[in-house]
Amino acid sequence: MHAFEELAKSFAEHFSHSHFPAEPSTLYGPASYFLELGGKRVRPVAVLMGNELFDNIHPDAWQVATAIELFHNFTLIHDDIMDKAPLRRGMVTVHEKYGEPTALLAGDVMLVVAYDYLNKVQSEHIHKIIHLFNRTAKEVCEGQQLDMDFEKQETVSLDGYIRMIELKTSVLLAASMKLGAILGGAGEGNQKHIYEFGRNLGIAFQVQDDYLDAFGDPAKFGKQVGGDILANKKTFLLIKAIESANEVQKATIQDLLGSNPPDKVERMLQVYREIGVDRWAFELKDKYFTTAMQHLEDIAVVSSRKEPLKRLAEFLVKRDY
Ligand code: IPE
Ligand code: IPE
Ligand code: MG
Ligand code: MG
Ligand code: MG
Repeated sequence: MHAFEELAKSFAEHFSHSHFPAEPSTLYGPASYFLELGGKRVRPVAVLMGNELFDNIHPDAWQVATAIELFHNFTLIHDDIMDKAPLRRGMVTVHEKYGEPTALLAGDVMLVVAYDYLNKVQSEHIHKIIHLFNRTAKEVCEGQQLDMDFEKQETVSLDGYIRMIELKTSVLLAASMKLGAILGGAGEGNQKHIYEFGRNLGIAFQVQDDYLDAFGDPAKFGKQVGGDILANKKTFLLIKAIESANEVQKATIQDLLGSNPPDKVERMLQVYREIGVDRWAFELKDKYFTTAMQHLEDIAVVSSRKEPLKRLAEFLVKRDY
């Protein structure tokens, strides 16, 4: 059994070689640039932890973890184009540095290389693994489209928001854990519980992401603080603000959603603070975290084996980057 830090370190050793040929360097340079920025490596660690909950790490788990991290990085490069994000992991985004066409291709080729790694899997469960990977990838696309559709909608329900973040973010964490569990020989019931653990935790994780996007410390967050406000993202912060605003606040919100003044972020944050929407972050995180922990408890293995996943869960909802 290994803790997050140990698994992250072992994964880094597996992952930190070049995944691409040298030429054309105008394509593979930008792809490598992005991978070298690092990141928390949460999802590959989730694969390894999902595996280790049930058995020793299967050699295939490294291939699956690598494929998952490449897929995640592909989604980030494309997400930064969609969100017009200037910063990622404390550095300039790929499309800002190399242009949108190259960023699209760097993401595309990363996705294909992810399949090269899946193609190395020897396990008899390969079809189940590909099926889950593909279902998840389609769901991420669906969630990302909803996220953009919502930018243009005047209002979104809290349920709509939760469904959207479930698709764009939480299913990838859930699938990572379940893929590891499959390789670890988990039974159907245990696979369901670990997926639900990851799914609920993933929702809490995105809630924290949306909270940090507004209230995070720019020095630690590594992304542009206020980016969601600039893009009119329908996060729970905005949904709750609209729900609880008085007439004056409501008018300010509507005004800001319909325009792009230079002090847009500042003014929206002012309204968020007045209304105290940040308390909803704690409420929502707590709700999904608690459900997640219930599913972890229901997994039929000795509870001492669950310690790394518990730690991971706590880190994900309390993180400040
Ligand atoms: C960012 O994921 C995208 C979201 C789903 C919020 P991470 O916060 O895991 O990004 P990195 O890989 O650590 O940079
Ligand atoms: C990201 O959601 C979801 C995916 C990348 C699929 P965000 O747009 O909130 O992620 P960040 O904040 O840019 O990392
Ligand atoms: Mg984004
Ligand atoms: Mg986005
Ligand atoms: Mg975000």
